[in-house]
Amino acid sequence: MRFGVCYYPEHWPAERWSLDAQLMRAAGLTYVRIAEFAWQLIEPAEGEFSWEWLDTAIETLAAEGLQTILSTPTATPPAWMVKAYPQILPVDAEGRRRHFGSRRHYCPTSEIYREQTRRIVTALAARYGKHPAVAGWQIDNEFGCHDTTRCYCDECAAALRRWLRERYGSLEALNAAWGTVFWSQTYDEWAEIFPPRLTVTEPNPSHVLDYYRFASDMTVSYQQLQVELLREQISPEQFVTTNFMGAFPDLDYHKLAQPLDLVTVDSYPTGFAETEQLYQPDEPHPQFAYDVGDPLVTGFGHTLTYGLKQQPYWMMEQQVGHINWASYNTGVRAGTPRLWTWHTVASGADAVVYFRWRACRFAQEQQHSGLLRHDGSFDVGYQDLLALQAELPQLEALTAAPVEPEVALLLNYQDLWALQLQPHRRDFSYLRHLFVYYRALQQLGIPVAIVPYAAQLAAYRLVIVPTAFLGDAVLAVRLTEYAAHGGTLLLGVRSGFKTPSNLVTAGPLPGPFRALIGAQVNVWHALPPGVGYEFESQIPTLSGPATFWAESVTPDAQTRALATYTAGPFAGTAALTERTVAAGRALYLGCYPTVEQARGLLSPLAAQEKIQRLAELPVGLVAARRGEQLVILNFTDQPLTAQVDGEPVVVPPRDVRVVKKR
Ligand code: GAL
Ligand code: ZN
Repeated sequence: MRFGVCYYPEHWPAERWSLDAQLMRAAGLTYVRIAEFAWQLIEPAEGEFSWEWLDTAIETLAAEGLQTILSTPTATPPAWMVKAYPQILPVDAEGRRRHFGSRRHYCPTSEIYREQTRRIVTALAARYGKHPAVAGWQIDNEFGCHDTTRCYCDECAAALRRWLRERYGSLEALNAAWGTVFWSQTYDEWAEIFPPRLTVTEPNPSHVLDYYRFASDMTVSYQQLQVELLREQISPEQFVTTNFMGAFPDLDYHKLAQPLDLVTVDSYPTGFAETEQLYQPDEPHPQFAYDVGDPLVTGFGHTLTYGLKQQPYWMMEQQVGHINWASYNTGVRAGTPRLWTWHTVASGADAVVYFRWRACRFAQEQQHSGLLRHDGSFDVGYQDLLALQAELPQLEALTAAPVEPEVALLLNYQDLWALQLQPHRRDFSYLRHLFVYYRALQQLGIPVAIVPYAAQLAAYRLVIVPTAFLGDAVLAVRLTEYAAHGGTLLLGVRSGFKTPSNLVTAGPLPGPFRALIGAQVNVWHALPPGVGYEFESQIPTLSGPATFWAESVTPDAQTRALATYTAGPFAGTAALTERTVAAGRALYLGCYPTVEQARGLLSPLAAQEKIQRLAELPVGLVAARRGEQLVILNFTDQPLTAQVDGEPVVVPPRDVRVVKKR
């Protein structure tokens, strides 16, 4: 277990650095991440490097025993570069250049930008790749942030054409895959194809899906360039990572994580509680203390991050006080950063790096807090760090232990993109749907992993696939094998509705999963607010009505109907089916469940599969487990009691208790 901090030595006079380093050491920090926005200082003119300040910063930190996490500064191309090569600037869907003056102002496809990147990364790796005080590397900063995954420039247009040629081989195949006969969209030459720039009404969803795939691939290949340049020169002890953003939807995070030694993530709990889109607009939020954020939203991000490689991750930016980019930017009390730290470690983090060292007096983030205030005095985060020092042995016992959930929730970015392009019911959100199941499991005290389709599923007793929208045939085979070997699979609405190129499936629904579930979806209805189709179920804890989205399911002779519609147009057909698949089973749920319905379904499934429930938890308590240590966190301002194996465990307000659990 290690702590660290994000530091900008370039914001402070060099005479201050050694005092900062002493204070960092006194707070028990080990790692200091630096330089992710410092390109101009490192390379003030093309090909001219200025290393002294960076050498001194790293040495000053090292003199206090601090290890540097060095970043490549490619999130901020300097003004001289933009002046010399304005074509590196990204272009939005309306054809507008996004100009210099903030950050992330580059097109990841740009060959010129990749040339510039080669020079700075090669130079940094040559200088610090063997430096004993450099522990590892962060590539760039928050890929995709500020809507920068998707660039619509001419160079992206040319690269998209190459990408499509590779995928389809011929224009005939592309026209068929996109259904371009509709509205006279047929292409006769590759040169007629562009990124989906501003159109009159919605652009072709097959075109857009391929463009989203392409755009994500451009960032993945841009990162790969840096990964390879670093690995050519750095010592094997130095790790290579980038900082992810939890439930960020624009990039295929599974592809982005794949070449990295380790995944790191940034977490700003109050920000996402204020702007969060994971709840239905009309759904009441659970009540937590006012300054802790929503631990379910925060934990969803942690769990998603753990699942990217199914390995412990590092927290690269942990909020320590108020932020500056949300609606209220709520003030944070002492004790809350400590609670966040425990939460992320219990969820699978092995190190926690705080953002940021000291509040900055100038520019965009002048109202963002740090461990130190603007005037250098200690803010609440610094106090919490001192408190955490005393708890290091317990935290280290956690990081020494594995995270071993028995339930998996499957996530796929292509399904997410395709569904979001034509959600049909406008508020049908892929991530919200996942979040319903996640919350139900949290309420039941059942840990879950959020993993890609390609993950090893055999380790899980229950696998939930809320929506396998694009009907991935390889997934159908994998899920069939999983069930046949004794697993319990729960597949949800709208699965198999589309083909991989985003056309509607030709055969019966749910497409490639039809045989696996032994049932057929004949009709589906999006339901407006206030409308529900009643059903009766054989599961005492699960009851109707189906709201939001309902499907009429007809089971085959060998398949059981576990819930049947009793009224409305689907009366007499199934809302939930179960088929025995060799040693296991496959269930199909024909509605978008409420959290209560998801809980009512998962609770008996978990009991049948002997999935362990960590504790009985009132609203406000969150439980997570590493090895034999059960961590119970209280995100409210009242003491709350969990029941663990029939024993009460009282957790004080905004506090944490660790109990042994076999
Ligand atoms: C992150 C970003 C940091 C800083 C922070 C402010 O998204 O990586 O550089 O801007 O937000 O909360
Ligand atoms: Zn571009």
